[in-house]
Amino acid sequence: MKIITTVEELIDIAARERAAGKTIGMVPTMGALHEGHLSLIRRARQENDTVFCSIFVNPVQFNNAEDLAKYPRTLEADVQLIGDQADYVFAPTVEEVFPVKPTEVYDFGTVANVMEGAARPGHFNGVGVIVRRLLEWTRPHKSYYGEKDYQQIAVIREMCRQCRILSEIIPCPIVREPNGLAMSSRNRRLSPHEFETAANIHRILEASRSCATVPEIKAFVETEIAKIPEFQLDYFEIADAETLLTTDDIRNPHGVMGFITVYVGPVRLIDNIRY
Ligand code: PAJ
Repeated sequence: MKIITTVEELIDIAARERAAGKTIGMVPTMGALHEGHLSLIRRARQENDTVFCSIFVNPVQFNNAEDLAKYPRTLEADVQLIGDQADYVFAPTVEEVFPVKPTEVYDFGTVANVMEGAARPGHFNGVGVIVRRLLEWTRPHKSYYGEKDYQQIAVIREMCRQCRILSEIIPCPIVREPNGLAMSSRNRRLSPHEFETAANIHRILEASRSCATVPEIKAFVETEIAKIPEFQLDYFEIADAETLLTTDDIRNPHGVMGFITVYVGPVRLIDNIRY
């Protein structure tokens, strides 16, 4: 595996791989890698000749300065974990990616305005800004994203549609800790007790499958979350799996998903479930 730090080199290497007839897979990340990220890299490895992984803590998608400052940065360990599972790791500085502060303002519509979009103003615009650059520089045949950030995938699809980026977007299943907690770089900020408590998020979502209607599911999840003193519910929404608009119809033909965000102490965790 080779580490790339400049945009020029990234563009050059990716163009040469493509010209040599190789298929290219791209996995964008912010580092602090865990099994969730590695599952995307392995999938990219299986489906492509050449795999790029980016490690870049993108400042423009953080709407909270403390969250950005506290975001774990573990480049050396990340590089060790990736090993030869990727061919290239793109790990640039902020100045390399953004010689000036980006000013693009997108309108991704509903998928970017509900739930995480409403709770974190500017977040998805910042995701669109970085993912567009990464995809345009690397021009992968396929790029890989985790369903833990389900709404992010919908936003990236919309960005690609609007910007005519033809790279195929591959959603990948959520990887969980043995206790059921969705793996996340932010889990490192949980105390051992909080880590165990946080497993209740997934347990409660799974238990909510036995409810028959949307109002029943909502009431059940909200009540169960409220029973846990370490939890502060940000939102729990039941939405159409495609439009992400809230729905009351459990038999919605696009599929129905539950989306949850819970603060465990100062750490904000997200998860989802398909009904
Ligand atoms: P990051 O949070 O580092 O996640 C990188 C990718 O790993 C995302 O596609 C995310 O959904 C996926 N991922 C994280 N945890 C996962 C898990 N438990 N199971 C499966 N996949 C998981 O998401 C971002 O970075 C950024 O917004 C990014 C797309 C890189 C743009 O900056």
